[in-house]
Amino acid sequence: MAILVDRKNSLFTLCTKSSMYQMKADSLGVLLHTYYGKRTENMDFSYLIQKRDHGFSGNPYEAGMDRTYSLDTLPQEYSCFGGGDYRESALAVRDAYGASAVDLRYEGCEILKGKYQIPGLPAFYEENPGQAETLVITMKNERKNILVKLFYGVFEELDLLTRTVSVENCGEEPVYLERVMSLCVDQPCGNWDWMTFYGRHEMERQVSRTAIHHGIQSAGGLRGTSSHQYNPFVILADSKASEIQGSCYGFSLLYSGNFLAEAEKDQFNQTRVLMGIHPGNFRYKLEKGESFYAPEAALVYSDKGFEKMTHVFHRAIRNNLCRGKFKNARRPVLINNWEGTYFDFTGDKLIAMAKDAADMGVELFVMDDGWFGKRDDDNSGLGDWQVNEKKLGCTLQELSEKIHGLGMKFGIWYEPECVSQDSDLYRAHPDWAFQIPGRNPIRSRNQLVLDFSRQDVRDHIFKEMVQVLDKADVDYLKWDFNRSICDVYSAQLPADRQGEVLHRYVLGLYEFLDRLGRRYPDMLIEGCSGGGGRFDAGMLHYTPQIWCSDDTDAIERLEIQYGTSFCYPVSAMGAHVSACPNHQTGRTTPLGTRATVAMAGTFGYELDPAKLTEEEKEEIRKQICRFKEYYELIQRGDYFRLTAPSEERHYAAWEFVSPDQKEALVSVVASKVRTNDPPARVLLRGLKEEGIYLLEGREYTGGALMYGGLPLPEAKVEYQSWEFYLKLKN
Ligand code: GLA
Repeated sequence: MAILVDRKNSLFTLCTKSSMYQMKADSLGVLLHTYYGKRTENMDFSYLIQKRDHGFSGNPYEAGMDRTYSLDTLPQEYSCFGGGDYRESALAVRDAYGASAVDLRYEGCEILKGKYQIPGLPAFYEENPGQAETLVITMKNERKNILVKLFYGVFEELDLLTRTVSVENCGEEPVYLERVMSLCVDQPCGNWDWMTFYGRHEMERQVSRTAIHHGIQSAGGLRGTSSHQYNPFVILADSKASEIQGSCYGFSLLYSGNFLAEAEKDQFNQTRVLMGIHPGNFRYKLEKGESFYAPEAALVYSDKGFEKMTHVFHRAIRNNLCRGKFKNARRPVLINNWEGTYFDFTGDKLIAMAKDAADMGVELFVMDDGWFGKRDDDNSGLGDWQVNEKKLGCTLQELSEKIHGLGMKFGIWYEPECVSQDSDLYRAHPDWAFQIPGRNPIRSRNQLVLDFSRQDVRDHIFKEMVQVLDKADVDYLKWDFNRSICDVYSAQLPADRQGEVLHRYVLGLYEFLDRLGRRYPDMLIEGCSGGGGRFDAGMLHYTPQIWCSDDTDAIERLEIQYGTSFCYPVSAMGAHVSACPNHQTGRTTPLGTRATVAMAGTFGYELDPAKLTEEEKEEIRKQICRFKEYYELIQRGDYFRLTAPSEERHYAAWEFVSPDQKEALVSVVASKVRTNDPPARVLLRGLKEEGIYLLEGREYTGGALMYGGLPLPEAKVEYQSWEFYLKLKN
């Protein structure tokens, strides 16, 4: 049983294979958080709760004269603003008086078969019936004007918990939601580190680890997307936790808009983690009878370091979040013309590239930006999704037929959410772009953002896209978004609803992607936002892969993909081999190394094949064969980070191990070559200790490779790489 409800003691326990989560409604109906950690025999953890009379921590009225009872000090399951808990809160609601105070008290609970789903928002789902259960706890407010439901999804075997919250206005007057966090976890004691994944365009998801100090530390942003700068995934780690040992909690928010992840260490050394929609510029009006749903948060506890947590997220995202045909079907090896041509191409050039690529074994040709409207640079054309037949020298259908005639699939780039001011669409509908009346909009890449909170705007773009896609037999679509959002104002909403715009925008985006996916179930959609600016679990529900970064330099990618891997699986990370010197860094790396690094992702090419030598073409043929051979192992195996950039080693190494531990692939890149370097070895992981593995004609026990290690060859050139394939002998 994954959910245990002890009604007599109002105790609610959620169990996954190795974790346990517990809360208890106390005698006042306050829902206390009693435990989250390693699974133990079931028991009432409320014995850990200690009450003391602490100064300046107020007492709820129902506690009578008991000065030891304060919401300010007790671990809360879902803390509310205005109820005497002065820590950062999960819920803040402004009422018709203009006041903001909520006291939630336990009302009842229900266990549902299966996993709850959330209207209009992405959520983990059951692959097979019976894989998950749902607990719904209903909380009411003293004034009875709102009803809050806390939803918990428990995937016992998968080791995954999920949460969300709904708020219903059951009073007569409207209320305004000012903060509805998806997750609130109180840890009464412990020394914790806060791990976040920060970055910038072309350098996303760098790992930051700092000790949690008294006060509030946060990651998040108001850019309208999850962003390059911070990722909606954080880890609360025991200060001693490492890859393979120690307690840690991974929290992922399935949301692609403004988010906030906060950790607060309070006056009594208690740590609270909150995660949800960023309250900045958020104000959601609920009329009588209306409900609001917060995005889902996923929680994974590991008692054995980050690796175990990562494996749970990878499996869950691959199997229980991604959807559609390409969740399981092998994704084609692609070539994208962007870095090969940028905007400077003709139909003939593209076909020539495709021909060369097909000859090397590439399976999908992707035509990137510049095929539509008046778009020969990035200053115009967005929004005019009509094929530029003059530039292509043919119709899109003809181009697609020619590509298909080469035995390849055909893909196309779109940026549906944006508009150039120099476009027919903008000239006809300037109010469809985000702009604040009386104020010039902020341009970025010389483009504005369409108001996707509006159904009419979305319908128009959808219609335009369908007209193109229906004619041209498109197998793949790259959905890009190349700026942060500003000037948040929707011409269709009244003043007191402008705080809803960005959330409605995200709902609009999801609705659009869902519609597109349903209409073209055989089309693979890859997400993108200037590389990895919207690389989050929410998007992965609609696009099973996302272009990881506009930085294609293999050495920089080592760090980007390392950070990304903490939560997101290899099958989600768009990665390509590009030309050298690299267009972002000017660095030259061996072609083999570029492939080794791109193979820790969805794998493809992004270069002009006409510039390759015959030897390079031959090498690429071999790379593609190798990728196909190891496809299952790479895309569905367990991923191990064998080194960390922070260790400052001279090489980076990672490993894929098949679920049955019969095969493994170890990749190593010499990230720095030094003269007279001492010999190096890398400790493998995830193998059968007693198993005999064959590697390049020699036999090793799994234990030897894991505890003694695998000796590494000496690097002869900078950025040399190696792949070691291991197979269990019997
Ligand atoms: C973004 C993407 C690139 C490319 C360009 C086209 O930067 O991340 O891969 O598609 O847009 O304008």
